[in-house]
Amino acid sequence: MGIHLTKLLPPDAEREDQTYLEKMVDLLSQDFDFHSQDSSYASHNFHSFPAKFPPQLPHKLIQELTHSGDAVLDPMMGSGTTLLEAFLLGRYGIGFDIDPLAFLLTKTKVTSLDSRQVFQVVRGIVESAKLAISENRSELEKQLARRWESKTRNFVEYWFAHETQMALLALINEIEQIPEEEIKAFCKLAFSAIIITKSGGLSLAFDLAHTRPHRAKVVFDQAGQAIIGSDLIGKQSRRIKLLTKRLHSPFDEFEKRIQQNLKGLPKKMSDRIQPYLTGLFEPEPDRIPPRISFGDAQALPIDDSSIDLIVTSPPYASNAIDYMRAHKFSLVWLGYAIDGLGEKRKEYIGGESTTDFVFEALPEHTSIIVADITKRDEKKARVLRRYYSERTRTLREMFRVLKPGKAAIIVVGSSIMRGKDTETQICLAEIGQTIGFQVPKIGVRNLDRNRRMMPAGTHPDLDSQIQKRMHEEHIIGFYKPCA
Ligand SMILES: C[S@@+](CC[C@H](N)C(=O)[O-])C[C@H]1O[C@@H](n2cnc3c(N)ncnc32)[C@H](O)[C@@H]1O
Repeated sequence: MGIHLTKLLPPDAEREDQTYLEKMVDLLSQDFDFHSQDSSYASHNFHSFPAKFPPQLPHKLIQELTHSGDAVLDPMMGSGTTLLEAFLLGRYGIGFDIDPLAFLLTKTKVTSLDSRQVFQVVRGIVESAKLAISENRSELEKQLARRWESKTRNFVEYWFAHETQMALLALINEIEQIPEEEIKAFCKLAFSAIIITKSGGLSLAFDLAHTRPHRAKVVFDQAGQAIIGSDLIGKQSRRIKLLTKRLHSPFDEFEKRIQQNLKGLPKKMSDRIQPYLTGLFEPEPDRIPPRISFGDAQALPIDDSSIDLIVTSPPYASNAIDYMRAHKFSLVWLGYAIDGLGEKRKEYIGGESTTDFVFEALPEHTSIIVADITKRDEKKARVLRRYYSERTRTLREMFRVLKPGKAAIIVVGSSIMRGKDTETQICLAEIGQTIGFQVPKIGVRNLDRNRRMMPAGTHPDLDSQIQKRMHEEHIIGFYKPCA
């Protein structure tokens, strides 16, 4: 094994280093499963997102390793779990992601709004959208025909029933006209949330969580009429199961989602002070608006030595979770074209293309793992080399922006390539040590597969050791020493 966990520091090491390292070891030795705990509080459940971690995980780390007002960074923020927890705990959150939905989602989750005002606006939207369908149908049909270039149009046509398209267009037309940017973003997110659900939401897709989406073979409209696959209906049997789906009303789903999200909205200061004044609740910490931006974790626009804690979880290797595969189902409605999204997909860490990619030199153990995969599959090995090169750049950036004496906590899952465990936690720890980090502890947590959208199901062909690994994640503690 190419890493050694930092146990003892040289006698002349700063006392500060020792105390902080001991705290990290103690913390990362604790239970991080949180399976029986509620993860849906505040705005955490505004929208589904693959491989998000339970909010209790960043909560515990932020609470133990930072103070009020400290800067907490997640350079691959995803659905913004770290950012929201930092916000709720009165820390200054800083977040980046290259994914458009991650940006919209995180921004909305930490924006306080007046729920009565939002509710009024939304009521108007749904009424106007319904009216547009009943009174301006032919105009909407024309708009639908010219809204996208042919590739995006074909995508929408394949994945959405015509009446659903009409209702979604009527809704998004109204949402785009909302003058208040923050309410508009809140509504766009609810709109997206009713399309991207595990069961494919309003689309014709059957599963948008685990696998490549499949279109339902038999589809019933809201009135119970078969609009796709009516000829197949009698052909189901115990042996032949057809993917069958019943469509819901986009208007009802949108209203329901808005109501649900309104309950989790961060309260405005005036609303939060009231229960405190009446003695009902403890005062909450002062909240600092976070800084949320589009950005690449491999080149962060952040000053050197300015961050107090990093809590993040990077993508898996080899596109094991393909974020764009599900996200494009709503992003096409929010103004993105399929070709542009395809280009963006190539930029994600863990992507599969290695053409023109500039590789980094990798340390000993990591190189052995890559060499081992090369014997099995050269192409896969290049993808893994790309992944560890990208992870080298992100770790280098994390080291640069962290204050000395502070930590980056990274949650990673391993990947299996050609039947071999890529030992991600060992390789990342080794890469981190080469950069200058100390690694005092690698914790383990067991995944709750019912809750988290994770890479595709079971692999019956893999031995039980590897099966077990696929159900675990590692929590690596990286420490930037003071001296
Ligand atoms: C596992 S998810 C993070 C989930 C997050 N911890 C949560 O709780 O929602 C990984 C994220 O990394 C993002 N990502 C991929 N490549 C990136 C890059 N080059 N820079 C920044 N973010 C990137 C993906 O878009 C995805 O949102």
